[in-house]
Amino acid sequence: MRLQQLLGTELPLIQAPMAGVQGAALAIAVCKAGGLGSLPCAMLSVEAMRKELSAIRAATDRPYNVNFFTHTPPAPDAKRETAWRAALAPYYREYGIDPHKIPAGPGRAPFTAEAAEVLAEFKPAVVSFHFGLPSAPLLEPLRAWGAKILSSATTVEEAIWLEAHGVDAVIAQGAEAGGHRGIFLSDDLSTQPGTFALLPQVARAVKVPVIAAGGIADAKGAAAAMALGAAGIQVGTAYLLCAEATTSAVHRAALKSQAARHTALTNVFTGRPARGIVNRVIRELGPLCPAAPEFPLATSAIAPLRAKAEAEGSGDFSPLWSGQNATGCREVPAAEITRAIAQGLSR
Ligand SMILES: Cc1cc2nc3c(=O)[nH]c(=O)nc-3n(C[C@H](O)[C@H](O)[C@H](O)COP(=O)(O)O)c2cc1C
Repeated sequence: MRLQQLLGTELPLIQAPMAGVQGAALAIAVCKAGGLGSLPCAMLSVEAMRKELSAIRAATDRPYNVNFFTHTPPAPDAKRETAWRAALAPYYREYGIDPHKIPAGPGRAPFTAEAAEVLAEFKPAVVSFHFGLPSAPLLEPLRAWGAKILSSATTVEEAIWLEAHGVDAVIAQGAEAGGHRGIFLSDDLSTQPGTFALLPQVARAVKVPVIAAGGIADAKGAAAAMALGAAGIQVGTAYLLCAEATTSAVHRAALKSQAARHTALTNVFTGRPARGIVNRVIRELGPLCPAAPEFPLATSAIAPLRAKAEAEGSGDFSPLWSGQNATGCREVPAAEITRAIAQGLSR
């Protein structure tokens, strides 16, 4: 089956869900342009999720995707939190931040029964996951209304695992991709191939459609992915400068500068490896810092530094998520990015 039939879209193109830099507006724009717009929910409360979903439903009757992380929240580890705050102590002094006043707490929530209940009010056509899949009972209600289930694979093994657990399509996320690695069967980053090494191997290993993600920034990249066996593509970074995205000013400035040529996989912002533009905190503490608490607990201690630095116009402590190929980023409406990239997709 062609991906368009599975997703109910005109184009085999998914706008990658990007928590923290977009809400309903970007999803709506891409849906209207014929792609599959996505709403990331990892950083939304249940009330915020309902508000964003209502906005999408009011704006379009086209299919859309709702995306969740599926991690198991870790038990807080006081020793690690202390070590992490000690690593950040010089920065707290520099910015005049009282570390005793920083609340500990999670920064990103996984998919829950409560989130599934909100989804049931909207019955989205597609639900995608990152870091594997939630438990079978949590997926049951989604299947009951016919939602297509997608998830990211970063290795051939993960793709085979996802197919065996019933996904309708696999997103092959190459190492070039911006944001969090979807890695879930291992924590060994040396297992992570680039898109054009991963994609043909995954396409050979599974029968479900394979969606290529990571480094696709223009029509030629899209055509190359299709030539290597992709049924469609998922594009994130190229949308980050669109007016419909909520990308911060410091993030936009970094994407437009030569700094965007140097990205790294870092755990300093959340505790889990994610690709972002190298900035001061990555350079000085990372890119991979053993003191960083488990995902998502690293977030809270760094949040006040980020706020203070951003208020001064600096992205030194911000997660400047970006893939390795930011050349597709343009300050144009998301529909224009969608149409331009879609020229490389044979239909
Ligand atoms: C700013 C940003 C945030 C992201 N957040 C999410 C997310 O919330 N959920 C998810 O499944 N993937 C997320 N990703 C990863 C994308 O799904 C996708 O793998 C990636 O954008 C593809 O590579 P590209 O950025 O080179 O296009 C994010 C990527 C970026 C750039």
